Amino acid sequence: MKLSGSILSSKYSAKEAINVYDKTDIDYIHIDVMDGKFVESKTYTIGDIIKFSKLTNKPFDVHLMVNNPDKYIDDLSILNVNNITFHLEATKKPLEVIEHIKNNGIKVGMAISPETNVKELLDYLPYLDYALVMTVTPGASGQKFMESMLYKVEILKKTIEEKGFKTLVYVDGGVNEENLPLLKEKDIDMVVSSNYFLSGNTKEIINNLKKD
Ligand code: DX5
Ligand code: ZN
Repeated sequence: MKLSGSILSSKYSAKEAINVYDKTDIDYIHIDVMDGKFVESKTYTIGDIIKFSKLTNKPFDVHLMVNNPDKYIDDLSILNVNNITFHLEATKKPLEVIEHIKNNGIKVGMAISPETNVKELLDYLPYLDYALVMTVTPGASGQKFMESMLYKVEILKKTIEEKGFKTLVYVDGGVNEENLPLLKEKDIDMVVSSNYFLSGNTKEIINNLKKD
């Protein structure tokens, strides 16, 4: 299971969180970009992300919680960004966004918020590198894991298997020690976490999970 460490934290500044993750075996650093429109909060600008990229060689996993994700893609593509996730709910032209991300040589993922029906995502599966199921309401770290979202994972995994697609399935929000066994059982390909990874001994938590 791949691990992506989110830098949204009440304990550390973004810079400190990046420095903490940099010393671990984490696969990606997860940057939650919020525009104050798609979600209420506002976080990092492209300028911030350029600064972050100078602090680490770890690849970035960028989660765009923004309207019109298209306008962020070219700027991100010149940085060490491995994945870009955008929300199905945030654009009227998902296929164009997918194409744009792919044309920049970046892995593309589509996220769905808890209120979105998973069936809306199924048609896009053949074009995506991964689907991301939100297990909290987008906008903040430290929320409670919504176990009721796991049926979406089951439907996605079943469809992917039946149709022979290569799409991976990621989960973001409220991941912790208690629900990780369940997520492993569901064969989730990558989990994102902030609160769990950053609240304890980050290096120990991550390096132990990577050994499993
Ligand atoms: C929520 C973000 C998540 C969040 C995860 O809007 O997309 O990536 O930072 O934080 P935890 O693990 O604390 O739920
Ligand atoms: Zn996220």
